Amino acid sequence: MKHWTLDQIAWDAFDPSKVDPGILSLVKAAALVEKNGVDYAIYLNNVFTGDPDFRQAADNWAVEEVQHGDALGRWAEMADPGWSFDEAFARYRAGYKIDVKADASIRGSRTGELIARCMVETGTSSYYTALGESTEEPVLRQVCRLIAADEYRHFKLFYDHMKRYLAREKLSFPQRLRVAAGRIGESEDDELAFAYHCGNEPATLPYDHDRCMRGYMGRSMSYYRFRHIERGMGMIFKSIGLEPRGRLSDLAAKGAWKLLQWRRSKYAQAAGAANENAPARRAA
Ligand SMILES: [Fe+2]
Ligand SMILES: [Fe+2]
Repeated sequence: MKHWTLDQIAWDAFDPSKVDPGILSLVKAAALVEKNGVDYAIYLNNVFTGDPDFRQAADNWAVEEVQHGDALGRWAEMADPGWSFDEAFARYRAGYKIDVKADASIRGSRTGELIARCMVETGTSSYYTALGESTEEPVLRQVCRLIAADEYRHFKLFYDHMKRYLAREKLSFPQRLRVAAGRIGESEDDELAFAYHCGNEPATLPYDHDRCMRGYMGRSMSYYRFRHIERGMGMIFKSIGLEPRGRLSDLAAKGAWKLLQWRRSKYAQAAGAANENAPARRAA
């Protein structure tokens, strides 16, 4: 069922001299979020009661997401032998839970749920492409390439099911747009920031959303290139029923790229200010 397995990765090619510490901290955080995919499958199974095809697809999807976590976690343990994936994941599980018991989508409809899933897969597909192209470490390059291909297939999977539900539920364009924008905005919630905390900070340091968001977003934004944003924008447009490669998508991609550059500089400034104000933590 899976498109690849951990055994297919050329782990022996690992080159410790090519590990970038910034990328390593992102990989540690990503490994935790990916591995948590199993909970999301339980939620999807509850939301899509009575749709056995989709529920089966959601179960298969989760197996792949968990494998993403295992591949990234294993790589991070090779890159930082003092780091334990299991320990970090236990901390993450203890502090971050999604509500799996929902009996209807938190997005208001099944179409909305699937549009939100398309946004997540657009994000991960672009992210692993950008990360894989940025690292010179050969094993991580291979891992990111394999994951990015899965994420794009996931996008197509959720998109196809979304079209099926859209024909039935007939969500209006503003409704679709609202769900998509809402899910994109949630990337600043705790899911990633807390994963960054559990993956990279000692358990003795209390979690601070802003500090961790700076650590995560400030770093991750530096690996994107315009082509990743352009492609991602096409996928977002397609999900909400707009022409993926038209003038409007072009304009939106350019706007998003400007926004990303602006936010990147804001995060860099905030990180600089935080470092000046916290010499004790830096020394720790
Ligand atoms: Fe994934
Ligand atoms: Fe995915």
